[in-house]
Amino acid sequence: MKLNIAVLPGDGVGPEVTLQAVNVLKAIAKKYKHSFSFTNALVGASAIEKNGNPLPEKTLQLCKNADAILFGTIGDPKYDHLEIDERPEQGLLKLRKELGLFANIRPIKTFKPLIHKSPIKEKIIANADFIIFRELASGIYYGKKTLEKDESSATDTCFYSVKEIDRIAHLAFKSAKSRRKKLTLVDKANVLETSRLWRKRVHEISKEYPDVEVFYLYIDNAAMQLILNPRKFDVILTENLFGDILSDEASVVSGSIGLSASASIGEKSVLFEPIHGAYNKYQGRNIANPLATILSAAMLLEHFELHEEADAVRGAVEKSIELNIMTPDLNNAKKHASTTDVGEFISDYIIDKKSVLYHIENINLGQSTII
Ligand code: IPM
Ligand code: MN
Repeated sequence: MKLNIAVLPGDGVGPEVTLQAVNVLKAIAKKYKHSFSFTNALVGASAIEKNGNPLPEKTLQLCKNADAILFGTIGDPKYDHLEIDERPEQGLLKLRKELGLFANIRPIKTFKPLIHKSPIKEKIIANADFIIFRELASGIYYGKKTLEKDESSATDTCFYSVKEIDRIAHLAFKSAKSRRKKLTLVDKANVLETSRLWRKRVHEISKEYPDVEVFYLYIDNAAMQLILNPRKFDVILTENLFGDILSDEASVVSGSIGLSASASIGEKSVLFEPIHGAYNKYQGRNIANPLATILSAAMLLEHFELHEEADAVRGAVEKSIELNIMTPDLNNAKKHASTTDVGEFISDYIIDKKSVLYHIENINLGQSTII
């Protein structure tokens, strides 16, 4: 398969983790004889520095013409003083809007070798496996904002149209139908008018998916249930801000936010990005976990129905975890692996399992100090 991939490494550790994900995709292309081409572009703080704009026109055009976008991370505390609409984050928010990326899909799963490391008890998280469908193109993120001149008050408006609710609801129901057939709408329908509209629409749409059982949960309760009993969730459907918050919380279930991948789906465009932030303090130190971005690349492959290839990436990721080839967020031993160690292991394992495992055995015998 031929794919044109736009790569937007962004800020902080974004370039380091994205590089590893690109290398993994190159390994897949080599092994499975695909032709993937990669074109890099600026976004966020790095784009502000070079172009004075967090989303340069050139970047937007590249993304519009690409088959898929691989995105790193965005943000830099040195721009905290800027107005909201000038901040680096606007690069991502505008991109989502311009490309109509309305559904952000965030799968959460536990990895067996990591379960004992979780701050949550093993019996609670074992076998947790759910997906968050976060609405991404509307809600309070994009509603009208005001700030009084004297800064004595401010507003953010939460807006949702039926069309915006329906399009993501259908995707979430379809996903539930192919999984354990449970969908939970998370909202605040006891207080918010937009949430009441979400409930109404989801109830209506549920009639088209009679085999999917629907649950309704307030966000405050959902935040608690997610930690108390994550196994009871299958597909979670929620609006933009609730989804943002809930998915960071959910990443604790899988062991580290450094493992959480996502896919953002639009009518024409698709973008894949880790859910973690730019981790600016650690930029250039080669310790950021590249797995969330690599797993986002696996979601890219899955999107184009390259199932075997996606499985190969996930299998290599699982192997790296099993062998404790992990960055310090998951491995606090002195001899933890670096970002590049993890990425290289995964790429090599995809190309040639046997020789990389042989090499690892030698490392364990103390014959090499690569890790
Ligand atoms: C995310 C991020 C973004 C968001 C930021 C960087 C604007 O936290 O993708 O979850 O809030 O959507
Ligand atoms: Mn977030």
